[in-house]
Amino acid sequence: MSRDVPNELKTFLLNSQVALALASPDGDCPLLLVNDKFSALTGFGAEEVIGRNCRFLQRDAGNTVAKARIHTFFDTPEQPSVRIDLVNFRKDGTPFINLLYMSKLRNRDNSVRYIFASQFDISRARPDRLAAYEAQLGGTLAALRPVLSETGAILDGSLVTVANSATMIAQAKMLLASLEESPPCG
Ligand SMILES: Cc1cc2nc3c(=O)[nH]c(=O)nc-3n(C[C@H](O)[C@H](O)[C@H](O)COP(=O)(O)O)c2cc1C
Repeated sequence: MSRDVPNELKTFLLNSQVALALASPDGDCPLLLVNDKFSALTGFGAEEVIGRNCRFLQRDAGNTVAKARIHTFFDTPEQPSVRIDLVNFRKDGTPFINLLYMSKLRNRDNSVRYIFASQFDISRARPDRLAAYEAQLGGTLAALRPVLSETGAILDGSLVTVANSATMIAQAKMLLASLEESPPCG
């Protein structure tokens, strides 16, 4: 089934100050929309990614634990959102650790209409930048609710903020350093 994104929702997401993506829950979850912040982070323009599943950012990184948590999110109807970090690659091949937030946007009959996601490079962040991102993402989600409600949709759950940002950033930096010691080919 093709899913159009209502104009007011599209405008809101495209103008957001954090990296965002919206996908259809149908089939292989093709991307319906990414904003300029997503393109700035990943190096991929919207025209290159719409219609694809966002896993292409992982190249051949294993991400086994993160992917298992994403599968649980998809397979558990009552789970509203998920937050994980996973190895991704920009278009130019440089790796980063993506702190990925995903949430279900539902119709009033509770069926899932879209999957909403936000991306953040936690491996190059400082705690103050992560805190600023968390505040911006929280504000985006709060402002998204009334926009969605105009289109008859509902945002599932709320943002669970990162509990220990300094530790999480330090771990991401260590993981990134280990990746950069042995860069992938291609
Ligand atoms: C809207 C949306 C955005 C996503 N963004 C990313 C992303 O930025 N990076 C990433 O590695 N995976 C992202 N994913 C997750 C992958 O598309 C995929 O669901 C995940 O790799 C698990 O499925 P797989 O095991 O079939 O690959 C996103 C998924 C959705 C629905």
